[in-house]
Amino acid sequence: MDSSDRSDLHALRTSRYEQLVQTVVDYAIYMLDLDGYVVSWNAGAQRIKGYQAEEIIGQHFSRFFTVQDCAEGKPAWLLNRALSAGQVQDEGWRVRKDGSEFWALTALDVVRSPEGEVIGLAKITRDITDRREAAIQLDAMRAQLFQAQKLEALGQLTGGMAHDFNNLLTIIIGSAKLAMHSKDAERVDRLLGHILDAGERGSQMTQQLLSFARRKTLEMAQVNLPELIESTRALLTQALPKGIILEVGVDAPLPDVEVDAAQLQMVLLNLIFNARDAVGASGLIRLHARHQVLAGEWDELVGDFVLISIHDDGHGIAPEVLPRIFEPFFTTKGFNKGTGLGLSQVYGFAKQSNGGIHVQSTPGEGTCMTLCLPVWQASNVESAEKG
Ligand SMILES: Nc1ncnc2c1ncn2[C@@H]1O[C@H](COP(=O)(O)OP(=O)(O)O)[C@@H](O)[C@H]1O
Ligand SMILES: [Mg+2]
Repeated sequence: MDSSDRSDLHALRTSRYEQLVQTVVDYAIYMLDLDGYVVSWNAGAQRIKGYQAEEIIGQHFSRFFTVQDCAEGKPAWLLNRALSAGQVQDEGWRVRKDGSEFWALTALDVVRSPEGEVIGLAKITRDITDRREAAIQLDAMRAQLFQAQKLEALGQLTGGMAHDFNNLLTIIIGSAKLAMHSKDAERVDRLLGHILDAGERGSQMTQQLLSFARRKTLEMAQVNLPELIESTRALLTQALPKGIILEVGVDAPLPDVEVDAAQLQMVLLNLIFNARDAVGASGLIRLHARHQVLAGEWDELVGDFVLISIHDDGHGIAPEVLPRIFEPFFTTKGFNKGTGLGLSQVYGFAKQSNGGIHVQSTPGEGTCMTLCLPVWQASNVESAEKG
């Protein structure tokens, strides 16, 4: 191949490449000179931004930014950053020719001559407004589902607590009546002590309910599991029938996990309520938390995790039902007993937290649900510092 053949080939490739870029419509692909003026324009850029090539070539790229971004110097900052680092990416609002805005994902790359000299910049922009809106809607739906679940759990908890409140009130009223008619100072003291105890227990119960019901924003944080499990257990003492024993075991030391604490508490309540429903009037529910390093044996999860298992000796799950239990609205419980939302919340939470949920069940023998949560990354450093 002689040099003229080679340059023909090069020209052909270049023009093919240009044709390709020209016809792409899903991405705006265009070039800027070193000062940020537009030097080329493709079909995608025309479609997304609304300008014809002849009206935009020669114009400065800052016109694609919002007034506020321009005032804050964003176009110049991006340009300088691309020139110094070779590349810069950005996500934000951009403005079309007609003034409407779209949410853009952009990349700005330097372009070099064959000799290595920087001769311009290539800009690729994608309109991801739809994707962003879908993500926002999904978040809103998750928040709504979480709220609905919380109301359901609150209903279940208060049902149990109402009974206990009645018991406490019976103590308070009975003791007060006896104290009113007693002349024995010592006895009156004892009765007042009962009234105070009962009042304080009632106030503790309302505190637990209130802290659970308070609308917290969903956020990932460093969570101490023994504390969270203990406060969940305290909430549950009133909501489980007397014939059900809840055993809690936490291996020590247990590293902190990285999750949304309010959601994790909901998940534990959901799993324990399911175990309660399966067990019936009497039985055993065991909650156990342990630290484990995974190497892909579980949902391809790799790294440091805490595994929380909730085991019950209830009726178990039939094999034909098992594949469906995580579906939203799937329930085998009667009308007004189940919503079918519990396990879908558990599943969503596990995925969102970069963990997993496993189920193992034998009909007639029981079920074990194991939740797998990532260890808080800084906890190793911290425990090393403490130790
Ligand atoms: N521990 C368990 N033992 C037996 N069946 C269970 C258990 N946990 C969940 N299930 C089954 O999974 C279904 C879906 O659970 P869930 O999403 O919490 O909805 P709900 O509890 O409102 O029915 C339940 O209806 C039940 O059939
Ligand atoms: Mg449930």
